[in-house]
Amino acid sequence: MWTDFQLFPEKASSIAAGVDNLYFFLVAVGVFFSTLIFATIFVFAIKYRRRRPDEIPRPIHGSTLLEIFWSVTPGMIAMMMFGWGAYVYFRNYHPPEGAMEVYVVGKQWMWKLQHPEGHREINELHVPAGRPVKLTMTTEDVIHSFFVPAFRVKRDVVPGMYTSMWFQANKPGKYHLFCAEYCGNQHSGMIGWVYVMDPTDYENWLSGTSTGETMVQAGERLFQRLGCHTCHMQDASGRGPALEGVFGSTVLLETGQKVVADEAYLRESVLRPGAKVAAGYKIQMPTFQGQISEEGLLQVVAYIKSLAPRKRVETQQ
Ligand code: CUA
Repeated sequence: MWTDFQLFPEKASSIAAGVDNLYFFLVAVGVFFSTLIFATIFVFAIKYRRRRPDEIPRPIHGSTLLEIFWSVTPGMIAMMMFGWGAYVYFRNYHPPEGAMEVYVVGKQWMWKLQHPEGHREINELHVPAGRPVKLTMTTEDVIHSFFVPAFRVKRDVVPGMYTSMWFQANKPGKYHLFCAEYCGNQHSGMIGWVYVMDPTDYENWLSGTSTGETMVQAGERLFQRLGCHTCHMQDASGRGPALEGVFGSTVLLETGQKVVADEAYLRESVLRPGAKVAAGYKIQMPTFQGQISEEGLLQVVAYIKSLAPRKRVETQQ
């Protein structure tokens, strides 16, 4: 029964050891002080017990030195936990440049994943070892949470927005994927596997299961089908702004505010065009809420992202 039982999941990502070390430090500090406090309670209970009914204890006077010692020492240990924890958190929070992108859509009760090359998977994710992977995630219905214990990563997947997280798997193998947020009666069945492959095996897997259409191509097709191109024309002569180079740029809005055009901004502009209107344009765009799935939306976002560098180079010429 206990043959599969592991106290700790495998350490299979670049951050796993760092997270575990912090965890062990917290446990060690907790165990040390719990032991010290309980041992002291017992020792003092015996040492200072009342020996005669008429015994009057000697009054205790304060010791400034002792007070300072037991205030400053725990204070320093707490600051160390804070500093160390912040370091691990921030390092795990920002995906490194050039990370491979994977797009995730949660749904009661499955995980749907898309690779930029066009591969789609359900409850399975194939990634190469030794390469950072960034997940951009959303859900069609309720809150889920993408959790891979062996990588020590977990992040909520929230309806109506994109969340992201990253990991770099360093050991080929097969690892559990869980949903870590109660999401309905099949929540416990919302599980899957992450397959970490040798980079060459991964390349073979990619070419062997090719669908023939990348996410950018699928996004472009949707862009045409929904008629986006009739207003968002490349030379900015349309009724909507040109989208070349928009991703990652700072957009001036009608209100005078400035926003960075990230994935969330693109998403919002498709679903709620009136929310943040670019300066110089009127709200003429209809909402596409209900006409496009979350997966389709991610494809359109991937397409608009792909328009950035190419056009920027051209305008500089
Ligand atoms: Cu999805 Cu729990």
